[in-house]
Amino acid sequence: MIVTIFIVIIISATFLFTIFRDKKCLPGPWNLPIVGYLHKLDPAAPYLTFTKLGQEYGPVYSVKLGSVNAVVITDAKILKKVLAKDETLQRPQLYLLDCVFNRKGILMLPVDVWKDQHKFLIHFLRIIGASKVSPNKKTFEALIRKYLEEFVQLIRSQDHCAAMDPTKYIAHCVNNIAGMMLLGKSYSWDDKTVTDLTQNLDEVVKHVAFGGPLNFMPLLRFIPTFKKSLASLKKSLHVVRDIQKKLIKECQESTSSSKIEVPSNLIQAFLLQMSKGSPEHIYNHDQLRCLLFDLYVAITETVKTCFRWILLYLAQYEEVQNKVRQELLEVETDDFADLHYTKATLAEVARIRTVVPIGVPQLVSENICVEGFAIPKDAVIMPMLWAIHMDPKVYEEPEEFRPERFLNNDGKFFRPESYLPFQTGKRMCIAEDMTQMMVSMFVGVVLKNFKLAPSDSSPIDFTGICNSTLSPKPQKIVFKPI
Ligand code: HEM
Repeated sequence: MIVTIFIVIIISATFLFTIFRDKKCLPGPWNLPIVGYLHKLDPAAPYLTFTKLGQEYGPVYSVKLGSVNAVVITDAKILKKVLAKDETLQRPQLYLLDCVFNRKGILMLPVDVWKDQHKFLIHFLRIIGASKVSPNKKTFEALIRKYLEEFVQLIRSQDHCAAMDPTKYIAHCVNNIAGMMLLGKSYSWDDKTVTDLTQNLDEVVKHVAFGGPLNFMPLLRFIPTFKKSLASLKKSLHVVRDIQKKLIKECQESTSSSKIEVPSNLIQAFLLQMSKGSPEHIYNHDQLRCLLFDLYVAITETVKTCFRWILLYLAQYEEVQNKVRQELLEVETDDFADLHYTKATLAEVARIRTVVPIGVPQLVSENICVEGFAIPKDAVIMPMLWAIHMDPKVYEEPEEFRPERFLNNDGKFFRPESYLPFQTGKRMCIAEDMTQMMVSMFVGVVLKNFKLAPSDSSPIDFTGICNSTLSPKPQKIVFKPI
């Protein structure tokens, strides 16, 4: 009896303390002790729950996720101010993300080491031509073109009367671009190493989600469903790491004999840095492996997803597809900047199906106050990119696919303040230029070779599958050769 009363008192005290503490600082829903609000998140689409809460509690609210004090931001202007601060440069330590990223590599790297690695990567992208300001831009464009042409050939070799799911061909194309950039290696269509790598990476990505409950309540790992999912994640991670070690070894063996002057892939750039006597606590083999892992996932998962959404929207909206094709054929330019309607269409796809809907979380290292919102130390910022892109106050009828919303009165492309597919701040995605190069060339090559259409047998399903990215469900479309 005494034990029961004691437990009831502890639970009630935690409950009241939680409510009192949350209400004092920021608005937000009532949280249960221990689980907080986790039990109310839509497991298939947590970004929708967070977006709905934003409509109820405003652009900055606090919500308890397990033991984590999360601060969700659904307004672009406020998010920009918050993430511009040095106090929000750190990434949080979250269970699942730690299992996968190990606090090495780049994405979840602690700030002290991150500063060096961030600089190193920006320089690397410039050297290989994957940046708008790079003198080697043409070399990187030629690399993309080569694998896009292979993609076209693979699609052309299929039966064109039948609809098909192009995902595996897209994956092959993007894997090879990533392979060349990172390892200096490309692979044949049926290469077993890459097939295993891709399948296991897909499995890792399926289980890892920035908003996943295991991140906030590691104790859940003892419950059978989570236990099974974690076991599957660890098994795939193990395979991926083994394959990557093998690939690095192969690449190292072929590089070490020749002296590297200008690196053409990440391994060479990293080894060059190591040979210059750079600090060993940063430039070591373990960090190289983790960096390769992060970048491989960053490139293949996001770009593949982005290409797939583009094809689905162009197949569904024939009029938009024809206008983009017409612009690509009429405007003779090497510069994507002149293709206003094409740019607007690609921006609209990136808005309406935000590839990273929950953004990547950041940790508040000191109390901060932005626009009157007091955000406490140790809170985890959840940048709700989906809510920002679906805000009806900014984007009228946000569920409607309308490229014109990115055109001004002169028909020129403009970028609204509330357009943040790559997030914002010092830790924002390093590859916006590179992605833009890949995406614009992809659209150019596809629309000059094929007319896209939905399959006769099933309409296109735009509901996404949410893990760390929001990707389309597997489905078929028609590619009619032009
Ligand atoms: C459609 C394509 C892509 C989208 C939508 C995307 C989106 C994002 C987002 C939202 C973040 C979090 C940024 C932040 O925390 O502020 C991020 C980080 C990052 N992205 Fe991308 N990304 C894409 C493609 C790529 C590619 C192709 C690369 C390859 C180089 C890449 C490399 C990275 C890296 C290294 C980070 C971590 C930055 C850091 O913590 O310093 N991304 N990306």
